[in-house]
Amino acid sequence: RQMNADRPVTVQDLAAMRDRGEPIVMVTAYDANAAGLADAAGIPVLLVGDSLGMVVLGHDTTIPVTLDDMIHHAGAVVRGTGRALVVVDLPFGSTQGGPADALHSAVRVLKETGAAAVKLEGGRRAAETVRTLVEAGIPVMGHVGLTPQSVHAFGGYRVQGRGDGAVEALEADVAALGEAGAFAIVLEAVPTVVGRSVAAASSVPVIGIGAGPDVHGQVLVWHDLLGLGEGPHPRFVKAYDDLRGRTIAALRAFASEVRDGTYPGPEHGYGA
Ligand code: KIV
Repeated sequence: RQMNADRPVTVQDLAAMRDRGEPIVMVTAYDANAAGLADAAGIPVLLVGDSLGMVVLGHDTTIPVTLDDMIHHAGAVVRGTGRALVVVDLPFGSTQGGPADALHSAVRVLKETGAAAVKLEGGRRAAETVRTLVEAGIPVMGHVGLTPQSVHAFGGYRVQGRGDGAVEALEADVAALGEAGAFAIVLEAVPTVVGRSVAAASSVPVIGIGAGPDVHGQVLVWHDLLGLGEGPHPRFVKAYDDLRGRTIAALRAFASEVRDGTYPGPEHGYGA
């Protein structure tokens, strides 16, 4: 089935893209303005990631992000897009109580934001939860490899999938998520060779971030790909612009013109 630019992207479109070898493009978005820009660029999938906590809300990890935070931003993203499939992260604390807890959280996300799908972290350990949501009619995207909500258990943001049995464990994770009904799976921060074998073994599309090129699609965080962040970033990040530098320059120009009286000029004033 071909994607039609006039109708919203569906979870079924992602499987069709994988089947015809068309890479799936996903970016994160946290507000209506970004969603509109992504729509204009033809981005088919928007992830309201709980990276929100780090790139927008100023936290050091994703752990403090609340379900209310996610719903607030996801609603804005949905209002800002006319076409993209919007997937919303279930944040730390909104699924840990088990399938019933996760179902309650996911129902709130769909009812209060208008988004079409949720994402939750974890492989085999999350499979029962994924199955419960899918049986309730809620499309679920999985997330394995480096799962940032487990940063404390990992002892930092470390590359996953290395060492004896690690690839087999990841393959078992994606198999369990696929069997539970996940429509796609994010695979984060694993060696390229691991990304290749996990994607090849998966029954559903695997969208990589730091998983190499041999997966079914790629996702990057908005601020990373636009060069809006500062400081060190993971090896897999590619900045396609320097919006941080350009934004600071624009702000400096405004400040300078206010200080020297250049702005506002006569053309910015109202007649009597
Ligand atoms: O929270 C997020 O933005 C994510 C992506 C990095 C996949 O989970």
